[in-house]
Amino acid sequence: MKPFVIALDGPAAAGKGTLAKRLAAHFGFAHLDTGALYRAVGLAVLKAGGDPTDAAAATKAAQNLAPATLRDPALRSAAAGDASSKVAAIPGVRQALFDFQRRFAATAPGPDGRPCSGVVLDGRDIGTVICPDAPVKIFVTATPEARAQRRLKELQERGETAIYARVLEDIRARDARDAARADAPMKAADDAVHLDTSDLDIDQVFERAKEIVERTIVDQRRS
Ligand code: DC
Repeated sequence: MKPFVIALDGPAAAGKGTLAKRLAAHFGFAHLDTGALYRAVGLAVLKAGGDPTDAAAATKAAQNLAPATLRDPALRSAAAGDASSKVAAIPGVRQALFDFQRRFAATAPGPDGRPCSGVVLDGRDIGTVICPDAPVKIFVTATPEARAQRRLKELQERGETAIYARVLEDIRARDARDAARADAPMKAADDAVHLDTSDLDIDQVFERAKEIVERTIVDQRRS
C-alpha cells in the first residue's frame, strides 16, 4: 500500500507548518517540513562564510546536508529564511533535495522508523513537482499583512528583534523570489483546494483541512 499523501503548499507564514503538524498528529501520519531542508542549506552556506546565491557552494551544501542540521534552532531565524529562498532558486539545490523528498513521500518513515499509512509534506512545490499525484492538495494562503503579523510574533517569541515594516518587506521579497524562479516556482496545482487563513484561527484552519482529508479518504474507499 502506497502512503496516503497530503500536499500542503503556500507562501511563507501562511500557517501551513502548524497545519501540517496538526494533520500529521491527528491522522498518525509522518510529516516533512520541506522548507527546513532549504533553510538548512542556506544556513550551511552562511555558516561557511559563503554567499547563498553562489550556485556551486549551495549545491555542494545540499548534496552534503547533515541530518543534524535539520534540528538546528537557527533554521527559524530571519537570516536562514532569507538565505533559504535564495538557495531554493538554484536548480542544483532542488535536484539534490528532490530524491530525499520523493523517498520520504514513498516510505513515510514514522518517528520510530516504521512506515506510517500516510504522510504530510509542506512546502512550495509539493503538489506540482514532488507529489503531483497526491490525493489531497491544499494551497494555504493569507494576505502579506496577516503573514507578516504572524511572523513578527514568532520572531519576537524567539527573542529576535524585529519590526513589522521590515518583516512585511521580507515576506514580499520572498514571495516574489519564490514565485518568480524558473525552476519549480511556488504555485498552486490546478487541482489544489485554496484555503485562505487570513481571518481564521488555527483551529478553524485545521477543521477545514481535516474535512477535506476525511472526504477524500471516504471517496477513495468508495471507488
Ligand atoms: O516554508 P519555509 O519558509 O520554511 O521555506 C523556506 C524557503 O524554502 C522558501 O523561501 C522557499 C523554499 N522552499 C522551496 O522552494 N520549496 C519547498 N518545497 C519548500 C521551501
